[in-house]
Amino acid sequence: MRTHEDQFLFLNEFIRHPLRVAAVQPSSEAFVNDLLAGVSFEKDGVFVEYGAGTGVVSAEICRRMSNGSFCVAVEPNKSFCDFLNNVDSRMRVICDFAENASEKILELYGPADVILAGLPFSLMSEETISVILKEAKNLLVSDGELRLFFYAHSLLVPKVQRMLDSVFEVFSLTWTSVSWNNIPPMAVVRCLN
Ligand SMILES: C[S@@+](CC[C@H](N)C(=O)[O-])C[C@H]1O[C@@H](n2cnc3c(N)ncnc32)[C@H](O)[C@@H]1O
Repeated sequence: MRTHEDQFLFLNEFIRHPLRVAAVQPSSEAFVNDLLAGVSFEKDGVFVEYGAGTGVVSAEICRRMSNGSFCVAVEPNKSFCDFLNNVDSRMRVICDFAENASEKILELYGPADVILAGLPFSLMSEETISVILKEAKNLLVSDGELRLFFYAHSLLVPKVQRMLDSVFEVFSLTWTSVSWNNIPPMAVVRCLN
């Protein structure tokens, strides 16, 4: 749930690192609900979030997941990591970039069933995006799923369009939807391994 405290921290970190945080506030609760639709939480699993920010997505995963599951929040921003460490005792925080985190996640928790990635794709280099997609593919179990989410208007950005082309090359099945439950609306790209 978004609180005044996490909204203030988010805005503060956006002012300090606008190109890396790339949003003035966390995702809305209604959007998080849309994002997690269809994710199975009945059996134990490993759920990873790249770019957890103040943890609205990871906190909801912790709330829904079974006792034997892991929720791993990957976030390079130190202030967000300090915040995340106090959100939910079941959340495992890795204070690093997504592109560096796979080995540690595999070693500590095993392969991921689902990866959620709300990253500033339109502001990242194409090399970094390509590494993140490949690392995510390698981190997932054979029938795992990567869900990318970002502002829907970024779909008009040529770099994001090229990213979607490379997603089609790396993953076997993908489809894109738009959630209007956020300001601005969000695109969700589901990528099946
Ligand atoms: C738009 S915010 C999304 C935050 C959160 N997922 C949400 O929905 O409210 C993007 C987040 O990605 C993080 N980030 C930026 N580059 C990253 C990278 N290479 N690896 C992992 N996280 C990154 C930022 O620090 C920021 O917390």
